[in-house]
Amino acid sequence: MKRLSRMALSSVGSKYIMALTGLGLMMFVLAHMSGNLLIYGGRDALNAYAHGLTEHPFLLWTARGGLLAVFLTHLFFALRTWQENQSARPIPYAHEATIQANWASRHMLLTGVVILLFVIYHLLHFTFGVVDADHFKRPLPDDPKQLDVAGMVIAGFGNPIVAVSYIVAQIFLGLHLWHGGSSFLQHLGLNGRGYDAAVNRVGAAVALVVVVGNCSIPLAITMGWVY
Ligand code: HEM
Repeated sequence: MKRLSRMALSSVGSKYIMALTGLGLMMFVLAHMSGNLLIYGGRDALNAYAHGLTEHPFLLWTARGGLLAVFLTHLFFALRTWQENQSARPIPYAHEATIQANWASRHMLLTGVVILLFVIYHLLHFTFGVVDADHFKRPLPDDPKQLDVAGMVIAGFGNPIVAVSYIVAQIFLGLHLWHGGSSFLQHLGLNGRGYDAAVNRVGAAVALVVVVGNCSIPLAITMGWVY
């Protein structure tokens, strides 16, 4: 057990865990986006999907617990790696341009913090109904067992400040996923085997799909295309 935690806390182990938990979170983001895109099929489609998720409470709470554990693990190892990098390089580079990296790779902590703040706000908004409580999941008049999740989303993005904040957050998420995807093989120690370019392209494509898919929802609601 001691050996396992020493391995996990080593710099190689931390990167390994970050890559694997990052992959899990990326899969959640893709699955969550696919569900949310059902809003284009009408309010009933999204409401039926959201209701379906609540029909197996044990599975739902197990998945929520797993997601939280993966998220916290990713956060813990990200902060640890950042702290180690800081103490390994106490004197800042004179010229940032000397570092062989792009903006996304040099600002993973910043993009990560924006995502964290977004998730906290998002949960207070759509999961706990603390923000905009007036529009929080009301029972549907013709089927009170189902909640009006679509109505909540449409009312939420009816506020342009909320819609723009979501769009900005998705761009930060996209940048984070873009670099996360491109450093994935390196973190697992599997780079240099001939498929780096292909994995980088998949990472960039996933980031782009997430940004376009997630931004389209607040945008379509603001434009009145979804109502
Ligand atoms: C425009 C984009 C998004 C929309 C429209 C959206 C919509 C929603 C809605 C409606 C819920 C509540 C579902 C329900 O209780 O029935 C929810 C929950 C949640 N969302 Fe999002 N979401 C978006 C983006 C994201 C992103 C980018 C993340 C993560 C980075 C995220 C993470 C979560 C989490 C963790 C929950 C709680 C899940 C649960 O209660 O089990 N969402 N979202």
